[in-house]
Formats: sequence, structure tokens, C-alpha cells
Amino acid sequence: MRNDTRPLLSVRNLRTSFFQDEGTTKAVDGASFDVAPGKTLGIVGESGCGKSVTAQSILRIVDRPGRIVDGEIVLTRADGSQTDLTKLEPNGREMRSIRGGDIGLVFQEPMTSFSPVHTIGAQLIEAVLLHNAVSKKEARRRGIEALRSVGIPQPERRIDEYSFELSGGLRQRAKPRRGGGDGRRRGGHVSGPGGRARQRR
Ligand SMILES: Nc1ncnc2c1ncn2[C@@H]1O[C@H](COP(=O)(O)OP(=O)(O)O)[C@@H](O)[C@H]1O
Ligand SMILES: [Mg+2]
Repeated sequence: MRNDTRPLLSVRNLRTSFFQDEGTTKAVDGASFDVAPGKTLGIVGESGCGKSVTAQSILRIVDRPGRIVDGEIVLTRADGSQTDLTKLEPNGREMRSIRGGDIGLVFQEPMTSFSPVHTIGAQLIEAVLLHNAVSKKEARRRGIEALRSVGIPQPERRIDEYSFELSGGLRQRAKPRRGGGDGRRRGGHVSGPGGRARQRR
């Protein structure tokens, strides 16, 4: 059972650097913060201060040549177990179940975070099936419910549309419902107009 006094997420002395020929960029240099259950934490700071790289570190999707060089990212999961995400394989089974299951990322540009070549439903259903042992039919039902829960009108119809058929605002609402899945893999095959899914984190 979860003990409600423990933070959901505890980041301690996180340091993430990019090692390039020109030198080393210390993108995150000793960040520490907690996210308490049921609370919202906002991180503000000037452009380039390391907000995105902090989020990428938590999700273990830091682009090469960057890597976490120090610190702990302790996640308390629903079953009460605690895991230091810095110790996991970025694309291993546990991290993939956490990414899009326990922790999701809403990209700044919602157009590029859905695949343009699959319907919203196909992507929602894929994410539901990845994280739950349910039938395709049940996954579709949950997808429709998820769209309804964020206020998308006529979700039974919308689920069979493509992301470019939704307005920007509706897309942004639909995105977290998709659950993120595996951010890397998704980023990899999004190559719509502009094809810049990878930069927009
Ligand atoms: N892929 C990358 N390669 C090299 N340096 C990077 C990369 N991504 C981010 N950085 C550097 O890390 C620092 C923090 O960037 P970022 O987290 O994106 O800032 P912001 O707070 O604006 O989100 C910046 O100096 C940026 O140039
Ligand atoms: Mg940023």
C-alpha cells in the first residue's frame, strides 16, 4: 500500500551533461526536488537552464551525447515499491512500463507527438495494450472513455480520426491520454511535415 507521506518522485543532486568534442555542457548541475502525491510542481527558469533536460533525464530519454552523471531519481510506484530510475536500462522492460504508465510527457508541439500515419484510436489502443492485459475491444472502449474524460466531443467518432483532423487544443488534450508509450520509438517514426519531433521536447 502506498504511504502517503512519501513523495511520488524524489530527484536528488541530478547532474546530466552533454559530452561533445567542443567541450562538456553541464545541462543539469545538481537539481533536487520532490513531487508530492496529488500536488503539482512547476519548474520555471530562463531558456537553456535545463528544464527540458531534467524532464528527459527522469524519462530516461536524454539524447546522445548526453547522459546522467550523478544523482538519484526515486519513483514510488502504485504498489509502494521504490525504484531509482537512474539505475534502469533506458529501453529496458521496467523503464518502458514506467514511461507512459507512471510518467508521461506532453511535448510542447502536440502535432508532432502523434503519428500522422495512424489514427488516434490506433495509437491510444496501442498504449492501452502496452500497459494493460486487456482485449482490443476493451482497449478501444478505454480509449474512447479517455478522450471523453478530457472533454473531447464525440469521442466515438474522433477516435477513428487522424491527429491532423483535431484542432491544436484538442490534440494537446488527447496526448496525455495516449500515455506517451515509448517516447523514443514514437519520436522516431513521426516524420510529418517539418519532421522535427525529436527536437521538440
Ligand atoms: N541534445 C543536446 N546536445 C547538446 N546540448 C544540449 C542538448 N539538449 C540540451 N542541451 C543543452 O543543455 C542545456 C539545457 O537545455 P534545456 O534543458 O533544453 O533548457 P530549457 O530550460 O530551456 O528547457 C542548454 O545549454 C542546452 O544547450
Ligand atoms: Mg525546454
